[in-house]
Amino acid sequence: MKVPFLDLKAQYEPIRGEIAEAIQQVLDRTAFAGGPFVAQFEKEFAAFCGARFSVGVGSGTDALWMTLLGLGIGSGDEVITVPDTFIATAEAISWCRAKPVFVDVDPGTYNMDPSKIEAAITKKTKAIIPVHLFGQMADMDPIMEIARKRKLFVIEDASQAHGAEYKGKKAGSIGDAGCFSFYPGKNLGAYGEAGAVVTNNEALDKTMRMLRDHGQAKKYYHSLIGWNARMDGIQGAVLSVKLRHLPAWNEGRCRNAAIYDEFLKGAKGVTIPKQAGYAKHVYHIYAIRVADRDRLISALAEKDIHCGIHYPIPVHLLDAYKSLNLGKGSFPVAEKSAAEFVSLPMFAELTREQIEFATKGLKQSLAALAS
Ligand SMILES: Cc1ncc(COP(=O)(O)O)c(C=O)c1O
Repeated sequence: MKVPFLDLKAQYEPIRGEIAEAIQQVLDRTAFAGGPFVAQFEKEFAAFCGARFSVGVGSGTDALWMTLLGLGIGSGDEVITVPDTFIATAEAISWCRAKPVFVDVDPGTYNMDPSKIEAAITKKTKAIIPVHLFGQMADMDPIMEIARKRKLFVIEDASQAHGAEYKGKKAGSIGDAGCFSFYPGKNLGAYGEAGAVVTNNEALDKTMRMLRDHGQAKKYYHSLIGWNARMDGIQGAVLSVKLRHLPAWNEGRCRNAAIYDEFLKGAKGVTIPKQAGYAKHVYHIYAIRVADRDRLISALAEKDIHCGIHYPIPVHLLDAYKSLNLGKGSFPVAEKSAAEFVSLPMFAELTREQIEFATKGLKQSLAALAS
């Protein structure tokens, strides 16, 4: 048996007809850059998230960057985020000429630890970006309370959390804006690059629509210095089709997470993910923690069980962020978990038999490594 980390073909096959029809419509109307299919998806995605507005952009990185620009964040400002994220969260801050300021994460959820935020706030702080890592939302109530008290914006990086919930509210709908990536492997993935911002702020929605389109509201009348961050028409059409299936796919991921939990319960040396009491997790990633991570991943690959690591190096220790001078030991919880994470195969179509095979292989490999 083979257990791939992700199998996009298994997701595509049952919707092949719907996708072909949707793409054909874009071709027939030659609506390639922005246009009606993007507008339709924006409407549907805003409704799905429980937000008033949604703006389709070229990627999750664009979504973060454009949102920061749209909120007026720039040179000399500081933005608080976490070190255990994909570099894009920090890159977006840096490309606004602002400085990323990290706070450590909660050891149970691996999300921003709200008790660490106050100490990181300075006169220069303008915004907080909690990252809903692996498909579970950060503890938003205390984050929003601090932000409101200190007059800071909150931008949710919901790139891994399409459909996740916090006390019944959808990811992206709580902060001033929510940023999503539709990179193909995400819970809602495009067939290329795409992203979106959701917000309840009408002025921000308007600004974002201009920023993503060279700062114009009317063709060639550019009132802002913007960028080309438009979503492709084909991506809009594909995402509309796939959004209809997202609730069932998320349920499939939750079902598979529960099967992993069942098979891994009590496994020696394995820490399984925890779902916080406030959360509806959507398991973009099912990450366990083990001490001897690299040797385990190699042993599993030999058994045709394929794992990933999200992410091996916390952002503050990446070469790209050397200039921040944040050495080892700066954020101990994020650093320890980054050294131990193993992302097990996870997608809706994974079967119980595959999970049983993977977890058996995992326990055997761990026993062999320990002997
Ligand atoms: C947490 C997080 N933020 C931002 C991004 C960037 O998204 P994209 O790859 O669509 O630019 C990703 C995805 O790769 C992500 O996982």
